[in-house]
Amino acid sequence: MRKKVTVVGAGNVGANCALRVAEKELADVVLVDVVEGVPQGKGLDLLQSGPVQGYDVLITGANDYEPTANSDVVVITAGFPRKPGMSRDDLLMANYEVVKTATEQAVKYSPNCILVVVTNPLDAMCQTAYLVSKFSKNRVVGMAGVLDTARFRTFIARELNVSVENVTAVVLGGHGDTMVPLVRLSNVSGIPLTELLDKATLDALVTRTQNGGAEIVKHLKTGSAYYAPSAATIEMVESILKDKKKVLPCCAYLEGEYGIHGLFVGVPVKLGAMGIEQIYQIKLSGEEQALLQKSADAVKELVAVITSKR
Ligand code: APR
Repeated sequence: MRKKVTVVGAGNVGANCALRVAEKELADVVLVDVVEGVPQGKGLDLLQSGPVQGYDVLITGANDYEPTANSDVVVITAGFPRKPGMSRDDLLMANYEVVKTATEQAVKYSPNCILVVVTNPLDAMCQTAYLVSKFSKNRVVGMAGVLDTARFRTFIARELNVSVENVTAVVLGGHGDTMVPLVRLSNVSGIPLTELLDKATLDALVTRTQNGGAEIVKHLKTGSAYYAPSAATIEMVESILKDKKKVLPCCAYLEGEYGIHGLFVGVPVKLGAMGIEQIYQIKLSGEEQALLQKSADAVKELVAVITSKR
């Protein structure tokens, strides 16, 4: 039986997610968007790349959810992207309505799917998808940490002029400027970062990672990042579809882990066919725990806005 992935939102992130699923031949893809013709046109265009690129999956586009029926994974990228000067939080209520509708429709047609949320502000949108879908917590997961660690790894590798493949980084917390890159646990082929770089340099890399999304927005002016976000999303989708059980930093619903209750926050998880199969609790220092709590508090504020308007 062929696997099926629905990507809601056929914009920059969504279309690149579809492309990456196809290029890895992970599944057939259905692109859904509210704009008439766009998902159909991009779907057909992607399909016609198959003979040249050598992939053999079906890619279709639609404005309704009927063709999405029985998807294994539904990726939600629909929403409004961040504009320059706009924080992720400004997007909150606009994207809440979008993610609510997308979730309702997606789970109606794919009651057994795993939901992978990408729309920002990410942690609050995960909470939205979780509340609306009424899925068990393992079946709603957010993409943030894979992207944030990819950015951190890139900056470390460039600073040291080493292969990104040798750089392992850990980032916890919400997907915003309060995220917590854990320098202590990041390394280059097992060599602690603290032995390779001085504190001032490390601090600068941490700050650049925390502002990684905004840096791209500043360049692009009319939108936000999509190549790395789609790559990060599809690493997660692949781990789910192939039951790879990769340990990845993802946005997960915490019920007491790290002292956080009833909130989606970025933590290391095992990602497999059941979605989030395990949450890993790292022993944190007092300072790290305080930073994580601060990040969780920022997420909590957004969730409070949503729940008060629900
Ligand atoms: N249902 C389906 N699609 C929708 C809906 C909806 N209710 N509302 C908007 N869309 C579509 C838009 O028509 C658009 O095609 O979502 C798409 C968003 O695409 P872009 O504007 O290109 O934004 P993108 O860069 O893909 O980012 C999408 O991902 O990384 C996050 O912050 C980013 O929240 C943003 C999301």
